Amino acid sequence: MKTKISVIGAGNVGATTAELIARDGLADVVLFDIHEGLAKGKALDMTEACPVWGSPSIVTGTSTFEETAGSDIIVITAGFPRKPGMTRDDLLIANADVIKTVTAGTVKYSPDSIIVVVTNPMDVMAYAAMKVSGFCRERVIGMGGLLDSARFRTFVAMEVGVSAADVEALVLGGHGDQMVPLPRFTTVKGIPVPELIGKDTIDHLIERTRTGGAEIVGLLKTGSAFYAPAASAVQMVRSILFDEKRILPCSAYLQGEYGFSDVFAGVPVVLGRQGIEKIVGLSLLPEEMEMFGRSAAAVRAMIDTLNFS
Ligand code: NAI
Ligand code: 2OP
Repeated sequence: MKTKISVIGAGNVGATTAELIARDGLADVVLFDIHEGLAKGKALDMTEACPVWGSPSIVTGTSTFEETAGSDIIVITAGFPRKPGMTRDDLLIANADVIKTVTAGTVKYSPDSIIVVVTNPMDVMAYAAMKVSGFCRERVIGMGGLLDSARFRTFVAMEVGVSAADVEALVLGGHGDQMVPLPRFTTVKGIPVPELIGKDTIDHLIERTRTGGAEIVGLLKTGSAFYAPAASAVQMVRSILFDEKRILPCSAYLQGEYGFSDVFAGVPVVLGRQGIEKIVGLSLLPEEMEMFGRSAAAVRAMIDTLNFS
């Protein structure tokens, strides 16, 4: 049986994620959206691109959960963007409702799947998906740290004047303003970044990373980033599908790791066919731990708003 991935939400991130999966022939893709025509139209367009890409994938568009049945992985990107007059809490509640609906709808037909959550506020939505699905924590994973780390890698590479492929970076904590970029664990071909760049410049790169999403929104005006987010989601998908066991910064449900419990936050994890196969512990310095704590507490406060028992 062919591998099947359902991408929930056929907007910018969802469609680009589906495209990357189909282009590389990783799996058949079901693209699900509340707007059936949008999902079907984009899916047909991608299917017609497959012969040109030389890809065996088939992309199907739908707005019925039955068609997602038997998915190996479900990538959730469905949700609302923030609209004028809407508070963060309004958005939180509206998107939590979307996550509850699509999680319940998909896991009913794919009880053995692994869920990758992208919808914002992502760490909180991952929590909601885990609660609604009843899945173990290994099978509900949030995408955020990989994107934030990719942005930090890019900015470091631009500063040093080297290929971003030679830069490794680690950004932990929640995927929000209080994320925790860790220069100590950021290297250029193995050389720690503090040996190559001065503190003031590193601080500037950290700030640019923290506001990286807003920088793109400011340029696009009508939407948020989707190429790097989709590429990041697909790197997670690859590591799971092919049991690559990559160490990637992902949002995971913590049960005592890093001193926190009952909250999702970005930590380095080993991703394989079973989902999160290990949470990698790091000895953080007191100031790094304090930043991590602030970030996790911000996620926890949003979870509390949703009143999950
Ligand atoms: P978009 O607005 O282009 O697409 C969202 C799609 O969700 C729309 O097509 C909409 O029709 C669909 N949708 C809404 N309610 C639905 C429901 N109940 N069932 C099925 N589909 C539904 O938004 P975009 O740019 O694709 O972003 C998607 C989400 O991902 C947003 O919440 C965004 O903030 C988040 N995001 C998260 C990132 C991360 O690093 N975690 C990075 C980039 C985006
Ligand atoms: C980003 O960081 C919007 O979370 C999204 O671009």
